[in-house]
Amino acid sequence: MKNKVKVSAPGKLMLFGEHSVVYGRPCIVTAVNQRMRVTVEVTKGDGIELVAPNVGIKNFKASISTPLDKLPKGARFVFAAVKNFNKKYKVVSGLCIKTQSGFSSEFGFGSSSSVTVCVVKALSQIFDIDICSNILFDICYRSVLDVQGVGSGFDIAAAIWGGTLYFVGGGKTINCITKKKMPLVVGYTGIKADTTTLVKRVSELRKSNLKLVDSIFDIIDSIVNMVHKLIVNNDFDNFGQLANLNQGLLDSLGVSTPKLSDLIFAARSAGAYGAKLSGAGGGDCMIAFVSNKKRIFVEKAIEKAGGKVISIKTGAKGVKIEK
Ligand code: MEV
Repeated sequence: MKNKVKVSAPGKLMLFGEHSVVYGRPCIVTAVNQRMRVTVEVTKGDGIELVAPNVGIKNFKASISTPLDKLPKGARFVFAAVKNFNKKYKVVSGLCIKTQSGFSSEFGFGSSSSVTVCVVKALSQIFDIDICSNILFDICYRSVLDVQGVGSGFDIAAAIWGGTLYFVGGGKTINCITKKKMPLVVGYTGIKADTTTLVKRVSELRKSNLKLVDSIFDIIDSIVNMVHKLIVNNDFDNFGQLANLNQGLLDSLGVSTPKLSDLIFAARSAGAYGAKLSGAGGGDCMIAFVSNKKRIFVEKAIEKAGGKVISIKTGAKGVKIEK
């Protein structure tokens, strides 16, 4: 047993296939070079101490048996991760957990999923338990579902495996397709989106228009599969049209917003190959696929339209132990 372990995991950026992936369909997600860092230390007693300044938790202590909905929001993923780990491996100990995010939880880069992966990975090191990536995924995905009730698990997979993944909802397939950098620009709308609300909204729409919405998902599947082939062939220039098509379909599902549209149209007018929202919609970020020549013009256009360009690199390394 070790006393103290430090772990880091990347944030994620959804490229293609958001929302449909919730229904067991495929998506393409990439890990970004902005990382969550978590230190887990064994303490006396059986309480969990949490220091998570990025989500406003300065020094919180509670018993691990506290129901998740009685905890502050920023503590729920950490406690769910510890609970599920303890349940599987029958180990209990007092812990002090410190989290430090390299990115704002506002961007929708998946700070909750990265933190969940870091905590479970760190616990496996503390208790000398060898867990493979698939088991790590199962424990973390269970924890995310315990907290938010919905989700495909794509963000957990990106935090564990890193790179750019072809992921099928629930983790039925998880393939790393490239570690290369994607030629893209990310623009933040300045509006924090609530994933659960947006997933529920699409679910309501699907309930009342099952055939239509499933046909939209079928087309998104085709787009994702075409993108998969383009990535394998290193053909990033042809992402643009597919991004525009995916955006049109997301708009028809009611998850785009005027602000997202402004940034997307500004990027296209400035010469991007194509652009779309990334993630749940309702705010958060948009992405534009660009050539090197046009990058600066697209970035300026996004800023002029009221967005904030966020500098990231794609295909980052998955979860790792830090010295
Ligand atoms: C949110 O970033 C992406 C969604 O597809 C939800 C999920 O896959 O968990 C909307």
